[in-house]
Amino acid sequence: MSSQLEKIKELIELREKARLGGGEKRIESQHLKGKYTARERIAMLLDEGSFEEFDMFVEHRCHNFGMENKKFLGDGVVTGYGTIDGRLVYIYAQDFTVFGGSLSEMHAMKICKIMDQAMKMGAPLIGINDSGGARIQEGINALAGYAEIFQRNILASGVIPQISAIFGPCAGGAVYSPALTDFIIMTEGTSYMFLTGPKVVKTVTGEDVTQEQLGGASVHTSKSGVAQFAVQTEEDGMKLIRKLLSYLPQNNLEDPPLFPNDDPIDRLEDSLNEIIPDSPNKPYNMYEVIGAIIDNGEFLEVHADYARNIIVGFARFNGQTVGIVANQPKYLAGVLDINASRKGARFVRFCDAFNIPIVSLVDVPGFLPGTGQEYGGVITHGAKLLYAYGEATVPKITVTLRKAYGGAHIVMSCKQLRGDINYAWPSAEIAVMGAEGAIEVLYSKEIAAEKDPEKRAAIMEEKKNEYNRLFANPYNAARYGYIDDIIEPRNTRFRIIRALQQLQTKKLVNPPKKHDNLPL
Ligand code: HXC
Repeated sequence: MSSQLEKIKELIELREKARLGGGEKRIESQHLKGKYTARERIAMLLDEGSFEEFDMFVEHRCHNFGMENKKFLGDGVVTGYGTIDGRLVYIYAQDFTVFGGSLSEMHAMKICKIMDQAMKMGAPLIGINDSGGARIQEGINALAGYAEIFQRNILASGVIPQISAIFGPCAGGAVYSPALTDFIIMTEGTSYMFLTGPKVVKTVTGEDVTQEQLGGASVHTSKSGVAQFAVQTEEDGMKLIRKLLSYLPQNNLEDPPLFPNDDPIDRLEDSLNEIIPDSPNKPYNMYEVIGAIIDNGEFLEVHADYARNIIVGFARFNGQTVGIVANQPKYLAGVLDINASRKGARFVRFCDAFNIPIVSLVDVPGFLPGTGQEYGGVITHGAKLLYAYGEATVPKITVTLRKAYGGAHIVMSCKQLRGDINYAWPSAEIAVMGAEGAIEVLYSKEIAAEKDPEKRAAIMEEKKNEYNRLFANPYNAARYGYIDDIIEPRNTRFRIIRALQQLQTKKLVNPPKKHDNLPL
């Protein structure tokens, strides 16, 4: 064999070795835990044959604890680029078979290299996390590596979409890289995220808690709101990432891709003309409205299990991506509270950063009252949503379906927060508050003075009717131009599509500043 062929053979052998990560035994143990390896995950996610790997021959430089004799090619993370539906993405996947996927100086360097590349090319970054955290043997160098990654996450925020999949452990300060990205996807049963594990929790607080209870997928998608999506399997996670990316642009200077389809733009949805119940206190399901108006009823909900009183997610109108924000009357009457405000605000800001128009469907009785909310700082959190809508410069279309009371009416993308097109259904009630509350404030003395319960009820009824006649309708707002038009519900899809077409050339720029001071 010529010496060149010898060298090529050596290369092939080294590649084979690198591909085995921590070796057959550890791969088998990864499979036994119901998890795929880093390379299997990348292959599952990217277009077939599109992956190009970087830094396969990187090794750590640690000499503590006999580490100089324990080296694995690639050092516990697989990095590179490839395509999803033909569009460029950068990816890293931590390899749990090598030192538990723990992050070393060189492991971090590999991740940072593709982050820099993703920023230069303006392409999304996907991180697949499965790691025991900082490589203990490397001490401060591992911490420095994390900080290098965090800094890049911060600079990339709002420039390229960043998606984190958590398919195994993600503990300690390591959680902050995913937390700085736009979307977190967790697998049920095999992933967890927490700052301090169960043992430390037990020592410090005496609390007995399992990993799952502390930071499993369902905890973070329903209680803490840290993660947006929970999936049953890694395969589901990969499908979700592909779908999510289909709604997004490559970077903040581009528009999302168009997906022409055959759902007629002027499709009338008669069911919407009868969806609002006669009683204002009866709920209906906002998902039915969303499903009826968007292209082919296809809705990618974000944060589905968290703050279910507000619905956020991606859909398309005439092939164009939009972000939907909708109050859900079926859950807590669609009231705005701390969690709903945080959820809505984050989504609105994401859409604005990535040129995605926002369609808001409003049916909100107000903000949730009480000490729980006030002590928790609902003023600051509610202000986040208000702020997010007010600063957003993307096209904003608002449809008020029923209630839009008080501050909540303002917050939900009203005209004065630079709503571009504000429509209302004839069933809309745009007022300072609902009739009952208003009567209580305006006529409490008069009502109390009447001792006969029947007469008292009659006065209340009369006052309520008078208030409803004056305020529980969209015409008052339309009279002042705060509503651009009152539309027939079954025509909502067509009217939104027309509005989006009209707004395609929208140009609006906020005053120059270093950055804003969003009420955090
Ligand atoms: C070095 C590590 C490691 C780490 C795991 N390994 N974590 N090596 N540094 N942080 C190694 C193990 O020694 C083992 O090596 C292999 O990875 C697999 O680990 P196991 O323990 O056998 O796996 P499992 O039973 O599945 O448990 C996984 C685990 C556990 C729960 C993640 O390994 C664990 O608790 N690791 C330590 C977690 C931790 O405390 N990390 C530091 C957090 S602080 P062999 O050779 O036997 O295969 C932190 C600070 C970040 O990360 C700050 C950023 C700002």
